[in-house]
Amino acid sequence: MLTSAAIRQQFLDFFASKGHVIVPSAPIVVKNDPTLLFTNAGMNQFKDFFLGNKNAPNTRVADTQKCLRVSGKHNDLEEVGVDTYHHTMFEMLGNWSFGDYFKKEAISWSWELLTEVYKIPKDRLYVTVFEGDEKENLPKDTEAYDEWKRWIAEDRILMGNKKDNFWEMGDTGPCGPCSEIHVDCRSDEERAKVDGKTLVNNDHPQVIEIWNNVFMQFNRLKDGSLELLPAKHVDTGMGLERLVRVLQGKTSNYDTDLFSGTIGATETITGKEYGYGDTKKDIAFRVIADHIRAIGFTIADGQLPSNTGAGYVIRRILRRAVRYYYSYLDYKQPLLFQLMPVLAGQFAEVFPELQQQIDFVGKVVKEEEEAFLRTLEKGLKKIDEIITHTKQSGTLTINGAAAFELYDTYGFPVDLTRLIARENDLSVDEAGFEKEMQQQKERSRAATAVDTEDWVNLQEVEQMRFSGYDSLELQTRVVKYRKVKAKGKEAFQMVLAETPFYAESGGQVGDTGILSFEGERVNVVDTRKENDLFIHFVEKLPVNITGVVTAMVDKDRRKKTAVHHSATHLLHAALREVLGTHVAQKGSLVNDEHLRFDFSHFAKVTNEEIARIEAIVNEKIRENIPVVIREMPKDEAIAMGAMALFGEKYGDTVRVVVMDKEYSVELCGGTHVGATGELGSFKIKSESAVAAGVRRIEAVSGYAAELYINEQLQTLAEVKDVLKQPKELVKSVESLVNELAAARKHLEMLEARALVGIRNELLKKDEIINGVTFIGDIVEVGSADALKKLCFDLKNNLNDYVAVLAANIGGKPSVAIGIADTVVAAKGLDAGKLIKEKVAPLVKGGGGGQKNLATAGGQDASNLQQVIDAVRSALAGA
Ligand code: ALA
Repeated sequence: MLTSAAIRQQFLDFFASKGHVIVPSAPIVVKNDPTLLFTNAGMNQFKDFFLGNKNAPNTRVADTQKCLRVSGKHNDLEEVGVDTYHHTMFEMLGNWSFGDYFKKEAISWSWELLTEVYKIPKDRLYVTVFEGDEKENLPKDTEAYDEWKRWIAEDRILMGNKKDNFWEMGDTGPCGPCSEIHVDCRSDEERAKVDGKTLVNNDHPQVIEIWNNVFMQFNRLKDGSLELLPAKHVDTGMGLERLVRVLQGKTSNYDTDLFSGTIGATETITGKEYGYGDTKKDIAFRVIADHIRAIGFTIADGQLPSNTGAGYVIRRILRRAVRYYYSYLDYKQPLLFQLMPVLAGQFAEVFPELQQQIDFVGKVVKEEEEAFLRTLEKGLKKIDEIITHTKQSGTLTINGAAAFELYDTYGFPVDLTRLIARENDLSVDEAGFEKEMQQQKERSRAATAVDTEDWVNLQEVEQMRFSGYDSLELQTRVVKYRKVKAKGKEAFQMVLAETPFYAESGGQVGDTGILSFEGERVNVVDTRKENDLFIHFVEKLPVNITGVVTAMVDKDRRKKTAVHHSATHLLHAALREVLGTHVAQKGSLVNDEHLRFDFSHFAKVTNEEIARIEAIVNEKIRENIPVVIREMPKDEAIAMGAMALFGEKYGDTVRVVVMDKEYSVELCGGTHVGATGELGSFKIKSESAVAAGVRRIEAVSGYAAELYINEQLQTLAEVKDVLKQPKELVKSVESLVNELAAARKHLEMLEARALVGIRNELLKKDEIINGVTFIGDIVEVGSADALKKLCFDLKNNLNDYVAVLAANIGGKPSVAIGIADTVVAAKGLDAGKLIKEKVAPLVKGGGGGQKNLATAGGQDASNLQQVIDAVRSALAGA
């Protein structure tokens, strides 16, 4: 039997033999593309080659790409585990032509590979071709049809509609007609009974699509229209899991060697057996085997589970898996993290990133599992109640408010609620849930929705250029612009033919500055990247947008930012030296005011370690090491010892930033100082935890460090001033603290004694009103609490009584009323009510309490006698 590794390799070797360069998978987590959270197709990383924004270094490439389809346009989550051929994460084998070959070669090579290399019997294959679409004004794909005719009998070429045979990456972006290849894996007997043709694209588990050949010709714009691309391209995708299943002669993807290892490990750990069937238990096995891949590889690619965006997608997948093992494998403790090493080992050759971070990923997963297991049981009870209640009330839909409560209080993602509802033949009011979500969002923050219009193109340019490493000011022109609306405010975004503005990336903030259009100045408030476009955020459009523009970066801010970026590299190396080489960057922010660096490490960094780290960085600053920056192929950089990051896309130039090749070598696209001496000094401001296994350091360097240290010294000087310049500041503060504690104790004792005296005086002033002992007086105490204490004390000394005590404490009125329970019962008096109705207006304040004891405070201390009189008359009238 061919192993999955061999099958993958054969694909790559085949396309290498056809002149393709084999490239690595891009990260599964997408950065710099607001239309996508995760890579959902092999072509994502090549989007700019299709759109013509960037030239491809090679016109033929092939790879295996980690993909995830659980959000957005392509979402298969509901099917995963229930059937045997959908996945969250899957590998997409693909070959691409960027303006090179087209339908003829793509079709003949796919046929050759499937039938001659993989030797899939021809009479099990069907192909589909786009039938055209009138509404979109798209013709039938006769070219593809004619090519296929050369290889396959015409009755095996099926025509397909826009849904099946026109592939689009998302709501916008590159797209085109496609041609799919389907395999009929049924037994000969079954095939003789039912013609396979009738089962293509009909959700039959044994008649499945394995390969899609897309002929990229259009760009879908936001208004829904199609625009022709500058060139024609080929984009193909074959699901490795399905291919392996066909070639290994299995009826389920999960029976292939891609999944059998982790399913076996799950059996060993849980003591349950996978039965190759349809039961809940079997679904659970498949869900787990599938989901751990998505969880493991997204975390390894730098995305931590969280409450928003991509992080929430991972959390949802993880919680879905936890619920399955908890309910159907009867396993009540963290399981997924135990499977990670098995998974990592299996993929160590092709995707080493998981193996290299296995301790970190395991730790993150375990903590996520623990956190969800803590609320899961309660949540499951709650949903049982909700289901019973829903059924009793005669509807078949769990209402939005209940689904929202499960989400908000018990951490149930709505797809988990939907899943459990479905198991009980119920559905969820999704619209109602969305409404509740929306309301919560509106409650917690003002709407941040951004409405972006299509680009307005002003001119064509070969390749837009970033020149900001060498120059901070240059003359150029606007290539395109668009309008955006956020929070009701209108703003604009511009792309320049050439720009000195650094766009936010690698943690470094985008540049700000000025665009001067023949004297008219437009402020650039931010610069960000969208794929490879550098987008300048501006508040207005100039009158003459087509004229020459002088682009000027805010030099001071850029310089201060560069200082922090170089300091970040020195810090990273120092951390690895002091804490160990397990330290890996997990996020960073670099701006003109400070730097923030998140890294994997399992314990708090001690003060002593902080001091050592700081000392190393400051030593490196004093050494005034020249910062050497070079561009080179990625492999060469890694060989040089550059810290391997997994963020590069194919075709990216790798920049290597070296500060003493024995000390710090990093792949980095950021801007830096010329030599470390420019940093002046470095100071760590804080160290804290951000997530499981992730610590954060905040630090300052250069001018910001000077500011920070001056502020600290200034505070110290002020403290010394206040303490009248003591010789030994610390000792002096210590003795002050001690003295204060002693004085407080003494004061408490005196106060207690004074209260006894006051209480004795009060007891002498009793009056009998309406058959009840009344005590009302203005007393001198230091706190509202003392008034309360007095009331308690009186209670212990009196039977049927009403007491009202008032005090002026530092100009503010304070009142307490105490009433014996017997009086409350007999006379219907209520201390809380008296406070609210009689006292609060007189003291211009408020308060409350119980029937037998209540207090008030306020602004006006001039009516204290009236307060007492008011309570007295209330008693008299009761
Ligand atoms: N981009 C195409 C797909 O994902 C190949 O199906």
